[in-house]
Amino acid sequence: MAGGEVRLVDLVKRFADVTAVAGINLEMPPGEFFSLLGPSGCGKTTTLRLIAGFERPDEGQILLDGIDMAEVPPHKRNVNTVFQNYALFPHLTVEENVGFGLRYKNVTKQEARRKIAEALSLVRLEGLGRRRPSQLSCGQQQRVALARALILNPAVLLLDEPLGALDAKLRKALQIELKALQEEVGITFIYVTHDQEEALTMSDRLAVMSNGRVEQVGTPSEVYEEPRTAYVADFLGVSNLMDAQAAGPNGSGGCRVRLGEFELVAGQGELDARGTAKVVIRPERVRLQPQGTAGENCIPGMVERVVYVGATMQVFVHLAPGQTLQSWVPNQGEALPYAQGTPVTVQLPSGALRVLATSPSEAPAAEPATTA
Ligand SMILES: Nc1ncnc2c1ncn2[C@@H]1O[C@H](COP(=O)(O)OP(=O)(O)OP(=O)(O)O)[C@@H](O)[C@H]1O
Ligand SMILES: [Mg+2]
Repeated sequence: MAGGEVRLVDLVKRFADVTAVAGINLEMPPGEFFSLLGPSGCGKTTTLRLIAGFERPDEGQILLDGIDMAEVPPHKRNVNTVFQNYALFPHLTVEENVGFGLRYKNVTKQEARRKIAEALSLVRLEGLGRRRPSQLSCGQQQRVALARALILNPAVLLLDEPLGALDAKLRKALQIELKALQEEVGITFIYVTHDQEEALTMSDRLAVMSNGRVEQVGTPSEVYEEPRTAYVADFLGVSNLMDAQAAGPNGSGGCRVRLGEFELVAGQGELDARGTAKVVIRPERVRLQPQGTAGENCIPGMVERVVYVGATMQVFVHLAPGQTLQSWVPNQGEALPYAQGTPVTVQLPSGALRVLATSPSEAPAAEPATTA
């Protein structure tokens, strides 16, 4: 069955005094890999449960392929869910687990066997059908859960942190597999995660959530390169976020910003911002130059700390105006000329420097960002 378009309209869900979902509007076209990304408690699981029909909205609508789901019970929605803990039946074999949902469908034994074999081959578990879940690795159990959800041919698959229990390496491998699988089956995936790297790697588009609201929706590169709020900039990977004073357009496509005594030009973001603002720059865009280098957006600083992380060196620099920022220098096998205590010039290229007007509702601190 084709389809798989999901629309959430002004969706609200309250639990006693907690508003878990506070007015969400989202549209996901058929076949999209869409992620809900946000810190613990921001309403990701509740949103999924509303779509699945396990919770009823207090306000708003859920439309699947244009049809309002208000009166449609979970088992009548063309949607299936993969849970974080897989929820496999321990006493059933892999085949029986995968075929479980078919018991309530009108399929012959032969047809069921064919579908089970197909689903197992889709997730590359051929030959393991007779085992029980306890005889499988975590990654294999995860694939059984996926096969069990896919066998019913849902138009939409909801996945709630499905890789959460796996170690980092297996997680990475399965991210790529899962994305390939989604492209192969062509159905809509709505994927919940609090891991920004995972969301960036896998999604066609993603929504960054905070406190039951969507802060920004876009492609991975849009939300990473063009965060609209300080919250999004901070949540999506490491960013250098600094308080500044904005003084509006500079007449040549940039915005004048003041960082302490230093006047800079920001070429991205809200270029007509004035007054208290934030500027943000990604660590991979910060350039370190020898002390005394002159040029646009150059600020003196002092190397505070150098952290070796393999592919890059993370250099923490204390800037003359008082802030500390990170610069990532690719590791090219040469010793870095920036030992702790070295005076340097930090260049913040205007094309990479973004102004964000300070929003009245300052977002709460995000979870610690993992370094990509
Ligand atoms: N059944 C419930 N009763 C009361 N409060 C609830 C219930 N379910 C969720 N909440 C609250 O709603 C908010 C959102 O919860 P939700 O489970 O959707 O968050 P989440 O984004 O999935 O977080 P996590 O990443 O930790 O899974 C939280 O404050 C949570 O405590
Ligand atoms: Mg959750």
